[in-house]
Amino acid sequence: MTTGKKLLSTYQLGNMSLKNRVVLAPMTRMSADHDGSANDRMARYYESFAAGGFGLIITDATYPDEQYSQGTLNQPGIANEDHVQAWKASTEAVHAKGSKIILQVAHAGAVAQGNRYLSGTVAPSAIQPLGADQNHIAPKELSVQEIKEVIDGFVQAALRAEQAGFDGIELHGASGFLLDEFLTDYTNQRQDEYGGSTENRTRFITELIEAIKDKVGDRIIVGIRLSQSKINDYTHKWANGEKDAEIIFGAIGKAKVDYIHITEYNSLLPAFENSSSTLVELVKKYGKTTVIANGQLDQPVDAEKALEIGADLISLGKPALANHDWPIKVAKGLPMDEFTGEVLSPLPTIKDSELYKENV
Ligand SMILES: Cc1cc2nc3c(=O)[nH]c(=O)nc-3n(C[C@H](O)[C@H](O)[C@H](O)COP(=O)(O)O)c2cc1C
Repeated sequence: MTTGKKLLSTYQLGNMSLKNRVVLAPMTRMSADHDGSANDRMARYYESFAAGGFGLIITDATYPDEQYSQGTLNQPGIANEDHVQAWKASTEAVHAKGSKIILQVAHAGAVAQGNRYLSGTVAPSAIQPLGADQNHIAPKELSVQEIKEVIDGFVQAALRAEQAGFDGIELHGASGFLLDEFLTDYTNQRQDEYGGSTENRTRFITELIEAIKDKVGDRIIVGIRLSQSKINDYTHKWANGEKDAEIIFGAIGKAKVDYIHITEYNSLLPAFENSSSTLVELVKKYGKTTVIANGQLDQPVDAEKALEIGADLISLGKPALANHDWPIKVAKGLPMDEFTGEVLSPLPTIKDSELYKENV
């Protein structure tokens, strides 16, 4: 049986040696304590995927500062010293099982729905997010000074992540959150150097990566997640198709990001109507960095195909929830369980059945 051969092969990402190519995709489970501290329940949940063979685990979206970055209540943070201490149970549990763990760091921008520090939201421009009701207050436009402060918030968060034992951080540049709001033409109407052309709309992200790399060097991995679609605009496509992909991936690759994690509804389908290329292929071509592919790679044969077309690693969201031991099942040639949605209902909080249990 050839399926799984490459999926289960090792990969060197910067200073991080991965035992296989299978990554747990970031998933918000709203299970942290109210003050943003990760807890033992989360540690046992991540440990379960490590025990199931996932070479790399990417955490829930985590907020970097005590300003406007938090997006939902009971979201974990990496915004203060208590948060650093709280995350250690998770990083230690995953490392003890021989896997690596990366913290996804997210600023929710205009789509924030719950923040315990401040009321209101911020964004590149004062434009109400799609889908928001008319009474929803528009976000406040960030000044250039405030942009620098947001960047500094991420830099401090990256240093705290290192203290907490993470092998790296992933900037959440997908799904309509703050970074993606800068990238997107209709949410970024700025007239300054951060708005207008695709090059200018990518500037916030490249400055952010450079500022973080400047402080953490090669000690930890600094990756980014990107998507065309958004939580409030599923079918969005970059207006200039492959040309935009070339500019965005080219600039981000040049900023020396360690990887680009690309998520599409189906990562094996062409990215634009007038092109036969997938985004996976376009990231590889223009980004010239490690590529993680995500989106409907439930079956090993499809995951293997993503590796064939240019991905170095693949990540799994819902299929991982249905199969905490997905990589072990690949090794044994066992069929995968289908995702039913049960563990996300009635709320997406982590369920008892998802916690690591000794000897199971
Ligand atoms: C419950 C849930 C929470 C999610 N939270 C995040 C998140 O915090 N950050 C993120 O980048 N994507 C998030 N996603 C998107 C997943 O990482 C992934 O891109 C999506 O599920 C598609 O991949 P799949 O087909 O393997 O499930 C979430 C998805 C689910 C199902």
